[in-house]
Amino acid sequence: MDNSVAAAGEPAAQSGFLHLVDHPLIQHKLTKLRDISTSTMKFRQLMREIGFLMAYEATRDQKLEMRRIQTPICEMDAPVLTGKKMCFVSVLRAGEGLLYGLLELVPSARVAHVGLKRNPETLQADEYYFNAPQDMAERCCIVVDPMLATGGSAADAVTAIKQRGARSIKMLAVLAAPEGIEAFHKEHPDVDIFVAAIDEKLNEHGYIVPGLGDAGDRLFGTKVEH
Ligand code: PRP
Ligand code: URA
Repeated sequence: MDNSVAAAGEPAAQSGFLHLVDHPLIQHKLTKLRDISTSTMKFRQLMREIGFLMAYEATRDQKLEMRRIQTPICEMDAPVLTGKKMCFVSVLRAGEGLLYGLLELVPSARVAHVGLKRNPETLQADEYYFNAPQDMAERCCIVVDPMLATGGSAADAVTAIKQRGARSIKMLAVLAAPEGIEAFHKEHPDVDIFVAAIDEKLNEHGYIVPGLGDAGDRLFGTKVEH
């Protein structure tokens, strides 16, 4: 692996708020996702699969309670999910690629959408859409966006749902730049981040290096990468 990509257990991933989800299946799929020769159809499939696998890790702290059930053999006390219900928050557009993977794992979750578009000159994100359930304060929210570059979009999405009352929030991204993690954490120190890899840096256009290119364009086939 390129030395510029953080591997499992490196110091950057050990602090409490940052979780590096380094399962081999995710790392393998991420390599295919990065590859410029991966088709739009395959890119979409891989993103959904990574969303599914990362959701497994991001929901690890969900509460359980014991319930009396009857198996075909005898009665027993068995664990079932309890506590707060979930809400997945998709940052448009690229969050949609991960969202349906998470929904495969937790089909009953509610979904919020925050539409954000980064200005290529200023790298600031403009919000063009917001729609969320009324009861965000009662839910465990997982914000999904594959790319945490400057961290501005992710931070704005979290601010938007906090304004709607959300309190229990996690951020799930596939790739992050160190600068983005730092900026996001400064703005939302109460929000844990789950990432599959931490890359080297941002380039002069605000793209993650080595990265995977423009996630939205690759997901929806709206631009050919060069
Ligand atoms: C991309 C990506 C993130 C954002 C990350 O979205 O999907 O939302 O950039 O960059 P940041 O961390 O510097 O804010 P983009 O604004 O290109 O919109 P799109 O998903 O509609 O393509
Ligand atoms: N948005 C993307 O889609 N990719 C990057 O590398 C940075 C921002």
